[in-house]
Amino acid sequence: MTSRFPASMDFAGYNAPSRIECDIYDLVVEGTLPDELEGSWYRSVPDPQYPPFLGDDTFLSGDGMVSRFRFEHGHVDLRQRYVQTARFKAERAARRSLFGRYRNPYTDDPSVRGVDRGANNTTPIWHGGRLLALKEDSRAVELDPHTLETRGPWDYQGQLRSQTMTAHTRADFDTGELYFFGYEAGGLATRDVAYCVADRNGRLLREEWFEAPYCAMMHDFAVTKEHAIFPVFPTTSDLTRLKAGGPHWIWEPDKDSFVGIMPRDGKVKDLRWFRGPPRSAYHFMNAYTEGNKVHLDFGCGKVNPCPFIREATGIQVRPEEMAGAFVRWTFDLSKPGERFEETVLGPGGDMPRAADKDAMKDYQVGYYQTFDPTLGPPLIAGPVGAGFNTILRLEVRSGKLMSFHPDGASTVQEHFHVPSQTPGHEGYLGFIVDRHAESLSELFILEAQHIEKGPVARVKVPLRLRVGVHGNWIPAAAV
Ligand SMILES: [Fe+2]
Repeated sequence: MTSRFPASMDFAGYNAPSRIECDIYDLVVEGTLPDELEGSWYRSVPDPQYPPFLGDDTFLSGDGMVSRFRFEHGHVDLRQRYVQTARFKAERAARRSLFGRYRNPYTDDPSVRGVDRGANNTTPIWHGGRLLALKEDSRAVELDPHTLETRGPWDYQGQLRSQTMTAHTRADFDTGELYFFGYEAGGLATRDVAYCVADRNGRLLREEWFEAPYCAMMHDFAVTKEHAIFPVFPTTSDLTRLKAGGPHWIWEPDKDSFVGIMPRDGKVKDLRWFRGPPRSAYHFMNAYTEGNKVHLDFGCGKVNPCPFIREATGIQVRPEEMAGAFVRWTFDLSKPGERFEETVLGPGGDMPRAADKDAMKDYQVGYYQTFDPTLGPPLIAGPVGAGFNTILRLEVRSGKLMSFHPDGASTVQEHFHVPSQTPGHEGYLGFIVDRHAESLSELFILEAQHIEKGPVARVKVPLRLRVGVHGNWIPAAAV
């Protein structure tokens, strides 16, 4: 290779590109894997195959790599493959990177003008009998669930009009429907948002468009049994800035946050917008409707946590000013006006997830990651910089917290949840532990109800797994 990866935070240390496609059978397991773990955990990782076109870039631009941990009769096998997007193939053919700044096609090599820029590096989901690799700036790419070979772009048999599809879809596990949206649906920096529903077979049932108050990074949304919820926070884009070669995102603290709520089976003209101070959040744990009230639970910050976005804005924020809280926003649909209520449920954090059976409903327990500064100095892992070092189990009604952290020299990645067949059993959590000293990874399995007891099994991974974005557990019987 004629150029090297930069020594910046996004490309060095534990964040160094891995670029390893592999098949490793029978990973070494310490402890005992629960018998009920029969299935696969798929996870997506940005992992650039070539050094950045413009010398430096963000972690989030990396080519999509999908890992599959297959659990079978107490054995675990690991497979990793790149998502062979048009972008990946163009760069591989040229043996160098050709795409410029994060989500700015005006900075690309002229040879790839018009080539799909999607890296599909954020979330693998299983729906309608298809494994889809998603990233919010583009449409889905379908993968073979067994081999991880790329089958090609997926646009709902040509039915999807939106140019984008969120990496945070919401499945209704009772009906099998998939709720999703696309922002910048009509093109770069547009306010167009497409609200979509697919049936259990992956057939597009609905696609309706509306305009957000401004063009924002709408990373996630939430759905209850009765409502769809579209939060809009002031991380914003602008076409003129993009055409000048500027950053896709800046943080605009002078703008308000908005939350649009509509009946989930209604029309987008029924969207009602609530309004609050500038806030930042990437992910929502859960939401549910209770009479006239809609509750939305999530880790809420006061500024965008991604350094590349804050730097683009030119703002300096001390880490202690960034820490937010885990909150519930409650919207009373029976009252007029734009206001809503906030209740603090726990310490700040991200990557929240409740059990699938609780999605969209009143629920008791959720899990998320946090950084506990008392455990040691931050370790660089992932796009935000400091990686999480602690996983929390939160009882949302009482506020009771339990926590687990491996040690002061490790960070933890996003967890997945596996339900148990045993009545009253809360199931299991699995997540990657980043061993910074050894530059190796382990997959920990914990009993969800007793995370403070530590892992029941530790799966040794003989390589460093770059910090994944999101993953999903898919039972063996489903594939
Ligand atoms: Fe996300």
